[in-house]
Amino acid sequence: MGTRPLLNRRLHGLGTTIFAEMSALATATGSINLGQGFPDTDGPAEIAEAAVRAIRDGHGNQYPPGPGIPELRTAVAEHQQRFYGLGYDPDTEVLVTAGATEAIAAALLALLEPGDEVIALEPFYDSYAACIAMAGATRVPWTLRAPDFRPDLDRLRALITPRTRLLLLNTPHNPTGLVLTPAELAAVAELAVEHDLLVVTDEVYEHLVFATGHHPIAALPGMRERTVSISSAGKTFSFTGWKVGWVTATAPLVAAVRTAKQYLTYVSAGPFQYAVAEALRLPDEYFAGFRAELLRKRDLLSTGLRAAGFQVFDPEGTYFITTDITPLGEKDGLEFCRALPERCGVVAIPNVVFYDDAEAGRSLVRFTFCKRDEILAEAVARLGRL
Ligand SMILES: Cc1ncc(COP(=O)(O)O)c(C=O)c1O
Repeated sequence: MGTRPLLNRRLHGLGTTIFAEMSALATATGSINLGQGFPDTDGPAEIAEAAVRAIRDGHGNQYPPGPGIPELRTAVAEHQQRFYGLGYDPDTEVLVTAGATEAIAAALLALLEPGDEVIALEPFYDSYAACIAMAGATRVPWTLRAPDFRPDLDRLRALITPRTRLLLLNTPHNPTGLVLTPAELAAVAELAVEHDLLVVTDEVYEHLVFATGHHPIAALPGMRERTVSISSAGKTFSFTGWKVGWVTATAPLVAAVRTAKQYLTYVSAGPFQYAVAEALRLPDEYFAGFRAELLRKRDLLSTGLRAAGFQVFDPEGTYFITTDITPLGEKDGLEFCRALPERCGVVAIPNVVFYDDAEAGRSLVRFTFCKRDEILAEAVARLGRL
């Protein structure tokens, strides 16, 4: 094979995702996995039943339409109207994808040229760096810093150059739990309009905002025409394995993203699309109940982590808690997480893997709380022995 590396140089350094490494470690050591963000109980039984029914009734067993089935596109448009007062045409302004992950990939591959700069909130969800790299663009980190992780808007202004093409937002933000405030979003929007930037916003945790409510940037003046909003069913309905996501944007933006998407998966998850269309129409009580349940779990885990000696940064949204291990006499989150399964049978994720600026994330460690109460209680008991 000669000496040329097999892996495309754009992907150098991306390696195996930390989630694969840590989940394998959890299995090998029989540890409680508070690393990867997936719930250990499935979503609503009637939605699972809707998927089974779709398969039995022959709905979606063959290639569904490229943009997604009309029932789901209509349900997504209704959801945007119901929760945010945003109007989208289900035929031209909604695109169904294989999870938010494909939506992010398709959006970045469609909208970026080599040499473009993308400003993204750092720490980044790991697929952002990979997709920006695959598009041949350059990521420019806009770093969130402990203890409050509030974005520095002057810093954002300073990061914008003539090569900046796109702002990549994530609110609620994984892993910090930051939720951008209406004032912060307005300031970001103003800069996007002033510099004529596109905005891609990953809002997969939109229904996990504990106190303040979720505010889509697409609703702000001048933003509808430049914003690609992304979400998915995995987190909101606790079916992360179904991989049903969607994009809402203007028709020209959706057409661009669809062009890339059609050569990634073309289509996916036919029967699940029918089930997710039903899920999006669940009554308000479902969404409120889900949020209240996760808030209770957040408090259960954060109380336990504090008692175990971690510095805890209470998240405003998502189902993750970022902690600092310095009070435990530890400095290096990666070493700490690699040793934690042997030390006490718990798996967590070192936040440093989400940073270019390793110093900013060195001592931070993320735990998820989307697990059954007895699992969280056991994890807390084990961590208490540290
Ligand atoms: C911020 C963020 N975006 C996207 C995803 C992936 O979403 P999906 O499973 O719908 O592809 C995740 C999953 O952890 C996430 O945390």
